[in-house]
Amino acid sequence: MLVNMYEILEKAKEGKYGVGFFNAVNVEMGRAVIETAEELNAPVIVGTAQVLLPAMELERVAEYLIPMAKKAKVPVCVHYDHGLTFEKCMEALQLGFSSIMYDCSTDSYEENVAKVAEMVKICHAMNITVEGELGHVGDNEGSGKLENPSDYFTDPEMARDFVQRTGVDALAVAVGNSHGDYKFPPKLDFDRIAAIREATGLPLVLHGGSGLSDDDFRKAVALGVHKVNIFTDIDKAGKAGVEEGLAAGAKTMMGLIPYEIAAMKKVVAEKITLFGSVGKA
Ligand code: 13P
Ligand code: ZN
Repeated sequence: MLVNMYEILEKAKEGKYGVGFFNAVNVEMGRAVIETAEELNAPVIVGTAQVLLPAMELERVAEYLIPMAKKAKVPVCVHYDHGLTFEKCMEALQLGFSSIMYDCSTDSYEENVAKVAEMVKICHAMNITVEGELGHVGDNEGSGKLENPSDYFTDPEMARDFVQRTGVDALAVAVGNSHGDYKFPPKLDFDRIAAIREATGLPLVLHGGSGLSDDDFRKAVALGVHKVNIFTDIDKAGKAGVEEGLAAGAKTMMGLIPYEIAAMKKVVAEKITLFGSVGKA
């Protein structure tokens, strides 16, 4: 069933477990995520991000993900990840996404507050949830690379103010996490996670989940992270699955799809299990 993020994260907060969010830029990825969640009787969050739209336009993604979520036997939130413009977020709302991340983390603090507060007002009137980001989670490669990531870490007292003034349902935090492959072993600031949770009381979101250790996830979830974002890991698993299919002699797209899906399902199942949401649907 299609639900908003609050319905999933409130239970996760009570039950002290984490829920996976997976970007699904094609139908195979959508199937891998939702079928695995059903098999494990786990709630799940799935969607796409503005930077991923070159792979599949928002409208096309909505055409497969939303019906799949509605038909699913488990709660599925369809979330627009890293929405960067007001217009694209409105398009996601119109298309039926049940949750939006309005990422104004590169704006000034006051602008971030004002823009996200307005988004919350609109979305909550439609029973749609909103995630904001305070501080900034950069990329390990490409244009988003930060010189000194710790300069952009989330400040707990600012987070308290941000949450009170915006009314967001979940908060993405910058605590040593980063998008894409980590060049150096990541070192998460767990004390900061605990302090942000204490200050805000909100379910926290850990972006850049690919490449973090099992122990990182366990500790982060225990301290108040209830949504973990994963993309690179399933993206790479899909490619590895295709390679495995080719090596096994598959000669057509149709022949490769089962390999692609199986490889991605394995990653999704590992993460859902690790975050503790098996059987929580
Ligand atoms: P990774 O690609 O590093 O797993 O990050 C995913 C993410 O944060 C999506 O918002
Ligand atoms: Zn992210």
